[in-house]
Amino acid sequence: MASLFDPFTLKDVTLRNRIAVSPMCQYSANDGVINDWHHVHLGGLARGGSGLVIVEATAVSPEGRITPGCAGLWNDEQAKAFAPAVQTIKNAGAVPGIQIAHAGRKASANRPWEGDDHIADDDPRGWETIAPSAIAYGGGLSKVPREMTKTDIERVKQAFVDSAKRALSVGFEWLELHFAHGYLAQSFLSGHSNKRTDEYGGSFENRSRFLIETVQAVRAVWPDNLPLTARLGVIEYDGQDEKTLSEAIELVKLLKANGLDFIDVSMGFSLGKTNIPWGPAFLGPVAERVRRETGLPASTSWYISTPHEADGLIRDGKVDLVMLARPLLTDPHWPFRAAKELGVEKAAWVLPSPYAHWLERYRAA
Ligand SMILES: Cc1cc2nc3c(=O)[nH]c(=O)nc-3n(C[C@H](O)[C@H](O)[C@H](O)COP(=O)(O)O)c2cc1C
Repeated sequence: MASLFDPFTLKDVTLRNRIAVSPMCQYSANDGVINDWHHVHLGGLARGGSGLVIVEATAVSPEGRITPGCAGLWNDEQAKAFAPAVQTIKNAGAVPGIQIAHAGRKASANRPWEGDDHIADDDPRGWETIAPSAIAYGGGLSKVPREMTKTDIERVKQAFVDSAKRALSVGFEWLELHFAHGYLAQSFLSGHSNKRTDEYGGSFENRSRFLIETVQAVRAVWPDNLPLTARLGVIEYDGQDEKTLSEAIELVKLLKANGLDFIDVSMGFSLGKTNIPWGPAFLGPVAERVRRETGLPASTSWYISTPHEADGLIRDGKVDLVMLARPLLTDPHWPFRAAKELGVEKAAWVLPSPYAHWLERYRAA
């Protein structure tokens, strides 16, 4: 039986433990180029002892950013800026991963602390959004996207491929495709946002096509010995949950057959109004079902806060990794605290030596 502090190996990559930093947008890049803020943020998270650090949703094309401050990988300058951060993550003993993304109809938004709504149409900071169908998300995100042509679809798939190549070129070892949270890929899958009548809409097979083709195209350039993963919204909590979840499980099986190595289980966020049963580790049973029925290693996040919750999810075989976000913003050294609480011998050694030596020697904290 594995536990939170056992290593995890997938392909040629071994994580020092089962704690992963879930991707977290910082909305602080300039023209998609990351800077000192991201470097310190990512380095601090790696230093804190997590096994895997997944960099925030990084746009594959300019119109795929959520906000003007989102990171990008659509040019070489952006890729180059990631290189020192990748090295810092590795030096601290963590594996560097990145989530590549296209925000679809949720793009062109103000930063969360500046409203989280769409940038006004007459504001030059905004841009045209694209999506499978010309349907707005609603609420503050009321901008109507342009329905994508086949040329748009091909271009965005190619943008995922080009970004994957750039991620590889600067040393990322774990690639996550953002297929969740109502962004572009999720909005192809969901019947709430996809009303197309061509081969990319309608039936489950057609709504899955963009996601499967993207995995196929990226797998062709992402090395076989490195994990190719996806974050998928497998449930919407919209009253049609069994149908959505069983379709998502079928899709994950197809993605697996096309080269996907790992699935991060999340929610769809395709609708403004849902009945999400917020609570401690509430997605655990959903992730367990996806993992069991697809046979793919899996992770999940959302309200996993205490070391015992995280360890329990691993020990019960619900997931292979836990993805943490806000607990690690609160305390990047959460893994050290967890190791102490779970009685791991020489707990401080989950941290790199320049910290571990002193904390272990004097048992200070
Ligand atoms: C500041 C912040 C930024 C986030 N950005 C992303 C992102 O870039 N991609 C993503 O898939 N999820 C993103 N999320 C969601 C987290 O990855 C995570 O799934 C969510 O916060 C639930 O985990 P938690 O309860 O441990 O915070 C973000 C969350 C936070 C708090």
